Amino acid sequence: MNTRYESAAAETLELAKLDDLPVGMGKTVRVRELELAVFRLADGTVRVIENRCPHKNGVLAEGLVSGSFVFCPLHDRKISLDDGMVQKPDTGCVRTFPISIRDGAVWLEWD
Ligand code: FES
Repeated sequence: MNTRYESAAAETLELAKLDDLPVGMGKTVRVRELELAVFRLADGTVRVIENRCPHKNGVLAEGLVSGSFVFCPLHDRKISLDDGMVQKPDTGCVRTFPISIRDGAVWLEWD
């Protein structure tokens, strides 16, 4: 999936409607200069990370989700959706983004 949303408020940006986020799958969302991967987990919570693996730029929104981790679709590195850390024995990290959920949508808290 691939969607572009425009600004909705001063310092928050709507990323996706909750109804458009299948549980356990990622969605690519582009806002401003960022390409993000948005995940709705089995517990109903949502995580947002940058959409490129630090290894060789695998598209993380296309990865397999297990619990609060995503496995990169290219070489299977395991990345935490909570803090962006690549799990051992591999190394690296991806940026994570703070979000809020209101009015049936996911909002990026823009700094
Ligand atoms: S590009 Fe993600 S593990 Fe290689």
